[in-house]
Amino acid sequence: MSDEEAVGFAMVECRTTDLDEYEGNDKPFYYLSNYMIDKNQQGKGLGKTALTELINYLRNDKPQIEAASIFLSYEPENAVARKLFTGAGFVEAGETEDGDDIVAKYALAL
Ligand SMILES: CC(C)(COP(=O)(O)OP(=O)(O)OC[C@H]1O[C@@H](n2cnc3c(N)ncnc32)[C@H](O)[C@@H]1OP(=O)(O)O)[C@@H](O)C(=O)NCCC(=O)NCCS
Repeated sequence: MSDEEAVGFAMVECRTTDLDEYEGNDKPFYYLSNYMIDKNQQGKGLGKTALTELINYLRNDKPQIEAASIFLSYEPENAVARKLFTGAGFVEAGETEDGDDIVAKYALAL
């Protein structure tokens, strides 16, 4: 039996169609959603560490597509998410179509 425990979850989609969904984006991209850390494990740096690992994985290890960027979105009032993602290098790039959430972009391509 393993003593490892899952403490978080994330979904990554490879998008190669509907590329005009995000204005100015004409290349395939990853879309990161449902990024979460177990409530009892939050605030311990796990979200930050896992995000760095995930970005490196998408950049170097298992590229499914020739993606130029990673997109994600979060509610403007989610201060922890905002700090986490902008601290990791995501740049706020607008808002979702319904205007409810902030869209942020991480540039993978040099
Ligand atoms: C957002 C989330 C993934 C962050 O994970 P985490 O493991 O708690 O975050 P970390 O401990 O790695 O901290 C990340 C940054 O936020 C800061 N932070 C963490 N908890 C905080 C809090 N309660 N108040 C203020 N800042 C906080 C940390 O100091 C760190 O910033 P720093 O690098 O400048 O020190 C987690 O809070 C979560 O699952 N929230 C619910 C789901 C969600 O909102 N997902 C994001 C939108 S899809």
